[in-house]
Amino acid sequence: MKLDNEMRDQQIKNVSIIEIPKIVDERGRGNLAVIENNTYPFNIKRVYYLFDVPSDAFRGGHSHKEVYELLIAVSGSFEVLLDDGKIKQKIMLNKPNKGLLIPTGVWRELDNFSSGAVCLVLASEEYDEDDYIRDYNTFISQ
Ligand code: TYD
Repeated sequence: MKLDNEMRDQQIKNVSIIEIPKIVDERGRGNLAVIENNTYPFNIKRVYYLFDVPSDAFRGGHSHKEVYELLIAVSGSFEVLLDDGKIKQKIMLNKPNKGLLIPTGVWRELDNFSSGAVCLVLASEEYDEDDYIRDYNTFISQ
């Protein structure tokens, strides 16, 4: 999917980058990031993650009717193309303490996975195939 320059600067409503609270160890033992239910605009009912994704693969290619998701690059990096039918936005995720909040009704495509990238997803609902719109023309005509 192509992005022209005009579209690049626009923001899709309710899409946001959320800072995940980080506890930095005083003795230099590394960082700890904490995610709790009340930090986000939804309760977490499901957690899944993508890993061992080949660098030339793409994931996603759908929108959701009800499900909200928070995507985190807990390791490595990848790009997320978002599209609400009017605006297209591309976001690089490469920090384990930044989460990308994707509301309902937003088409997403994930690609350019770095070696060792892990995409952790916190979802507001349990898995239900009926919640997916997997056909772009159906999505766009809604
Ligand atoms: P899908 O959501 O299409 O993956 P992605 O958007 O990352 O490309 O899911 C891929 C397959 O895994 C599909 O057959 C549905 C199944 N699946 C589950 O069974 N449970 C889940 O929680 C998820 C997210 C997917």
